[in-house]
Amino acid sequence: MLINDLTARIGANEDAIRDATNRVIASGWLVLGPEVKRFEAAFAKYLGAAHCISLANGTDAIELALRAMGVEAGDRVATVANAGMYTTTAMLAIGAEPFFLDVDLATRNTTLTEVDRAIADGVKAVVVTHLYGLANLEIREIAQRCAQNGVRLLEDCAQAHGARVAGQCVGTFGDASSFSFYPTKNLGALGDGGAVVTNSIEIAEKVARLRQYGWTDKYRVEYAGARNSRLDEMQAAILLAFLPHLDATNARRREITARYSTMIEHPDVSLPDPMGKEYVGHLYVLCSAQRDSLRGHLRALDIASDIHYPIPDYRQPVFAERFAHVRLANTEHLAAEILTLPCYPEMTDVQVDEVIEGVNSWRP
Ligand SMILES: Cc1ncc(COP(=O)(O)O)c(C=O)c1O
Repeated sequence: MLINDLTARIGANEDAIRDATNRVIASGWLVLGPEVKRFEAAFAKYLGAAHCISLANGTDAIELALRAMGVEAGDRVATVANAGMYTTTAMLAIGAEPFFLDVDLATRNTTLTEVDRAIADGVKAVVVTHLYGLANLEIREIAQRCAQNGVRLLEDCAQAHGARVAGQCVGTFGDASSFSFYPTKNLGALGDGGAVVTNSIEIAEKVARLRQYGWTDKYRVEYAGARNSRLDEMQAAILLAFLPHLDATNARRREITARYSTMIEHPDVSLPDPMGKEYVGHLYVLCSAQRDSLRGHLRALDIASDIHYPIPDYRQPVFAERFAHVRLANTEHLAAEILTLPCYPEMTDVQVDEVIEGVNSWRP
């Protein structure tokens, strides 16, 4: 069993995908055309935000949003270190200096206390990642604290499309938010894609310039730090077809993960709590001090698993000794114990039960 079976998603949506791609081919408009405009409007409306600027991928979304917020080389920016290096990669492209935040052991998200530590250290911006599909439950308080201190807040929602805190979608609390539409995401294209979402017209306009060479007019470049980062019409049309199903597929993910959390019973495994609409089940991540043994057992049963993510950003080889002084106890503890189980909306109940039985039958 795969950890995420995209052929199942494609199979379940074959007609809609064919209609979308045929429409684009027939139009002859392939980049930055009507499908992109329609998708941007629809996604902004779904989230309850004023603007969506689509881009080529989620890493560009983080980088261009930070640039649009005024982050420059040498500025310090806070980020977690347990989210796959994406935000840190974006910061390296700008020349910004990462300030690493620890996370809560239960939610695996950062905390207001950690954000306070970063603000006291003088960061210019904070990036909050809503990891594994779980909204940061303190996001409203974090947004208030950042605003009170003149610190910019970017929400990275690449794993949390449609997650809500008290009914409000993540991605609408901070100054701006970044999304990825990589195929395995809760809202995934059939290729790369990303977006910046914001209520600020200034940020939206700046990102729109930065995604196309820094043009203010055709062939007139006024903005530095720009690139070519456009969502193509084909992907926009496919995302438009998938968006109306997002709440339903998120609900199915929640159903699967709730079943895991109630049915997996093992003394050497600890499980995330079942959650409400704050959680959209992007990844289901358990913990075990012997996770490599569990992984081997699942592999023998032909059940795939993965580790999201094994190396804290500040321990990545690219940094050599640069962050040797950084120690984040919870981040390191989790990196040694986490294991991701298969979870995607098209999983059958029989497959879900196979995974449950697989974990429960492990004898370390
Ligand atoms: C939390 C997070 N942020 C950012 C990204 C980067 O997105 P992309 O792969 O589209 O560049 C990803 C996805 O891979 C992600 O999971």
